[in-house]
Amino acid sequence: MSDADAQKRAAGEAAAALVESGMVVGLGTGSTAAWFVKALGARQLDVTCVCTSEATAQLAASLGMKLAELGETREIDLTVDGADEVGPGLSLIKGGGAALLREKLVWEASKRCVVIADAAKVVPTLGKFALPIEVVAFGHKTTALRICDALSECDLGIAPRLRMKDGQPVRTDGGNLIYDAACGRIEEPAALADALKSVTGVVDHGLFLDLADQALIGAPDGVHVLE
Ligand code: 5RP
Repeated sequence: MSDADAQKRAAGEAAAALVESGMVVGLGTGSTAAWFVKALGARQLDVTCVCTSEATAQLAASLGMKLAELGETREIDLTVDGADEVGPGLSLIKGGGAALLREKLVWEASKRCVVIADAAKVVPTLGKFALPIEVVAFGHKTTALRICDALSECDLGIAPRLRMKDGQPVRTDGGNLIYDAACGRIEEPAALADALKSVTGVVDHGLFLDLADQALIGAPDGVHVLE
């Protein structure tokens, strides 16, 4: 196992220890979240899980975990999810796994959100990881031009790229497309978040601001807690 994987696993296992029987738990998406799901499944608690993607739902179901749709349970007690970058004030970039919309819906419906990551994800300024932006497929090239305008308003003169896999555009679980914007440095994430949300055709973006309550960061010397 690589060092990064060992750190992801340690963070996932530390987060699983936060869960108590009777909780409604939001399950994130990605390789780090998968460690959390496996560790939680192994504890065999009486919990109800709300998943942020079809992939996570498949994993959780394979472990025999009880699943419910968002909105079918009482409020979610705790959501645990990974991130692509963890910046100042627990600002995050998410969406590397194309699940940002369902993730944000679940996060916003949760009393408490804990982000788990390996140490390399912690950055002084967000933006080295290209920011994922989810757009509806209809007219997406026009929407991409409007996204360029929104980025320039924030002094980010870059063109977002349509995410492709095996020669085809990547589709999210909801059937939307993802554009990735290589911002470099996002000095004012809140302004960028507002500018992107104002573009018709943009469903959401991977900036998660003021949503994480705590970060559990796997590091060579153990799991560090950031609040
Ligand atoms: C999926 C996400 C993931 O949480 C993020 O991409 C981190 O993934 P990983 O844990 O595999 O590094 O936001 O949309």
